[in-house]
Amino acid sequence: MAFLRNAWYVAAWDNEIPADALFQRTLLNESVLLFRDDAGVVQAISNRCAHRFAPLHMGKRVANGVQCPYHGLQFDGSGKCTGNPHGDGKIPTAAVVKSYPVVEKYSTIWIWMGDAANADAALIPDFSCMDPEHFYVGKRYLHAKANYVLESDNILDLSHIQYLHPGTLGSETVSNAITSVKQVGNTVYSNRQTVAEIMPDFLYAAMGIPHGQPVDRWIDVRWDAPANMLLDAGAVATGGERSAGKSFPLPHLFTPETDTSTHYWFSFCVPKALGEFAKQVAEEQVQALSVPFTNEDLPMLEAQQQMMGDADFWSLKPVLLPGDAGAIRARRVLDTLIAAEQKRAAQQPLQEPAVVPVPVRAPVSSH
Ligand code: FES
Ligand SMILES: [Fe+2]
Repeated sequence: MAFLRNAWYVAAWDNEIPADALFQRTLLNESVLLFRDDAGVVQAISNRCAHRFAPLHMGKRVANGVQCPYHGLQFDGSGKCTGNPHGDGKIPTAAVVKSYPVVEKYSTIWIWMGDAANADAALIPDFSCMDPEHFYVGKRYLHAKANYVLESDNILDLSHIQYLHPGTLGSETVSNAITSVKQVGNTVYSNRQTVAEIMPDFLYAAMGIPHGQPVDRWIDVRWDAPANMLLDAGAVATGGERSAGKSFPLPHLFTPETDTSTHYWFSFCVPKALGEFAKQVAEEQVQALSVPFTNEDLPMLEAQQQMMGDADFWSLKPVLLPGDAGAIRARRVLDTLIAAEQKRAAQQPLQEPAVVPVPVRAPVSSH
């Protein structure tokens, strides 16, 4: 499977990378080592040592870098070898590992898996609802044995909440909601609005609406490639203006681990301006959400992947339903971006082969 390489992916929550330890995660089939340098800045390098390919995360954190556990070469955050305990200590020219551009923003660590020259931090989608200065962010991480695009499908087609989450997130009104899809540039918006819905119990408390009152509920999803989504979920007493209701931003961020497994970060964000309760509400709500995500979505996603095996999604000729419009649009945008990236890569001139000097032999005497 081809992944979009020139894009920002989430690699971790900010608090997953401690100050003095090494953290390994496989992203897009590559084993990546993340750590904070001596200034606390997150660095990402290949986890495979340049000598005999030992996993660097099994080594130890040394001044501004890591020491390989096998023969002791040291590497810094740029991937440069900074220490060789062998022989005269000279650094071999080939002793370098790949490094990845990294940005710490919105409570998350973003990584660029493509050409470093294209890594523009301004391309990170807006998740200011996770700005730790202004919001308390209730954070969760899940690992799914399923392809990451199935995860985008799941969020972009929320008609499933009526069937998969009947007691937690959905109600009988959801699949007949008013839906709309729009695309602005490469961003896809998939919106869903119920009318006169009786919501599941816990949502009344979250929305601050008297229990059992009919509501108009909206769940609007913004998708950016490869699979970064922001939900705006809210409700108002039926007939009211949205501005009279309450809504919450719910980020859902997915990064492929392999072709058939995915890292999944989601959060519930509450403005710190709400005072003491912000942390409590964010923690309670993200915990409430994690129950159906863990017990209902995750087993379904993994079962879907098992049924699909290694087959390509389109080769299985999936039936398309009205609720799929957003997910299909996002798949088309993603496929187009990947195809364009591959075309550009194919057009790049081949690197000049390195000129290796051939040793000249002395002519053999004929007599
Ligand atoms: S494998 Fe890393 S120094 Fe030998
Ligand atoms: Fe779900």
